Amino acid sequence: MSPLAVLALALPLSHAFVPPSPAHLPSLSSSRRVSLRRSPPPASLPSTALQATTLVRPTSDTKDAKDKEPLTADLPPLLGGLRAINKKIVVITGASSGLGLATTKSLAKQGGYFVVMAVRDKEKTKRICKEEGLEEGKDVAVLEMDLASFDSVRKFARNLKAWLGPQPLDRLICNAAVYLPHLQAPEFTKDGYEMSLQVNHLSHFLLINLLLPELKKSKDPRCVIVGSITGNTNTIGGGLVWPRAELGDMRGWRRMLKGQRTAMIDGHNFNGAKAYKDSKLCNMLLMQELDRRLHNSTNIAFTSMYPGCIAETNLFRNKRQWFRKLFPVFMKYVTGGYVSEPEAGDRLAQTVADPRCAKSGIYWSWNGGARMVGVLVPGSDTPVGAGGSGGDLFENTLSDEAQDKKKAQMVWEYSAKAVGLDDIA
Ligand SMILES: NC(=O)c1ccc[n+]([C@@H]2O[C@H](COP(=O)([O-])OP(=O)(O)OC[C@H]3O[C@@H](n4cnc5c(N)ncnc54)[C@H](OP(=O)(O)O)[C@@H]3O)[C@@H](O)[C@H]2O)c1
Repeated sequence: MSPLAVLALALPLSHAFVPPSPAHLPSLSSSRRVSLRRSPPPASLPSTALQATTLVRPTSDTKDAKDKEPLTADLPPLLGGLRAINKKIVVITGASSGLGLATTKSLAKQGGYFVVMAVRDKEKTKRICKEEGLEEGKDVAVLEMDLASFDSVRKFARNLKAWLGPQPLDRLICNAAVYLPHLQAPEFTKDGYEMSLQVNHLSHFLLINLLLPELKKSKDPRCVIVGSITGNTNTIGGGLVWPRAELGDMRGWRRMLKGQRTAMIDGHNFNGAKAYKDSKLCNMLLMQELDRRLHNSTNIAFTSMYPGCIAETNLFRNKRQWFRKLFPVFMKYVTGGYVSEPEAGDRLAQTVADPRCAKSGIYWSWNGGARMVGVLVPGSDTPVGAGGSGGDLFENTLSDEAQDKKKAQMVWEYSAKAVGLDDIA
């Protein structure tokens, strides 16, 4: 089997409880207020078949009620303790495995950072912390958040705000993701969205907006959304390997917003690998839209990055055993795009620590030893920016679609409606 054929198989690829108050809602500026609004009522539907698949999404009343639920006091005391040792506070989603865990370890090793590990399985993560020598209360705290539930994201944000008090949040890393290429039919969350769209993109959109006030308090705030070569069609890995990321005219997303059960943003049939790639494309479009809308007024540096192909992570948990054995070998010895978990973790940690990465609106990559999956530079035989071990940080170029300003605006508006923050400037 040719290397590209194998690649094609690979990549279809405070203890104090603070009662919620309006102050807990994101306030961007007087002209950029965020308000919780009822999702638009489902439009009249043309057929009974369609009505059978129509969803009833939570209204603002149920959301408000959820926002008043008591918080869980499951974080160590912060004020006094951490401030005295002057650590920067970092939140990482998906810190229980792969890139997120490696980044947590890298930051803990550097000193200067206290990482809030935002995870769906707290007990598992606490066990991992013990095994990895990550000391809770000193290096890290573990706080629950299931990105498959908007309620859980809101609860996490309220817990974090109560815990932080006046302390700023210095870094937010949106890293968690699911990749579901094995599914024949879409899996929907209880909020009614296709799983990879909600976990990888929509919930991160909500989280970022909810935590803007805390980020704004920091002197050097940064928000990094992990991107991927697979969402970028200007690469061999993202452009030649089917299916390609492509949002089309987003008619599928409009159907979702009308309450019709629809999996794919482009409105076409479900494809799990494409749903992942589309969600990564949304991640990179969102990063640029955040930069355009909010960087000047908030000083937050919004960036994205491609860590390289970390071929051994649990992202590939749904692939067959033979694939999970061969894929790292192929990426190491054939394409050269392979990066180990510790190196990828150092790269993501670099985006939050390196002074160069305070620049907003950038898609960071590393010019390592990749030979086959990078950006093809006209007039050169050597692709760049595909990861690969080693090399230095550089400002990578996104695909035309990933740079499309109109699509980025649409992603913003549709995401705001989807998560119930539909009054964001
Ligand atoms: N691996 C690569 O080659 C590669 C390449 C480019 C980009 N990336 C990106 O790197 C990031 C991390 O991926 P990875 O390779 O490190 O995969 P991974 O090991 O599977 O890590 C994914 C993380 O997301 C968490 N997660 C999944 N569903 C969640 C949910 N509903 N709520 C909260 N957390 C959830 C997982 O938690 P559990 O531990 O509970 O499952 C895990 O901690 C992703 O954004 C991915 O797109 C990876």
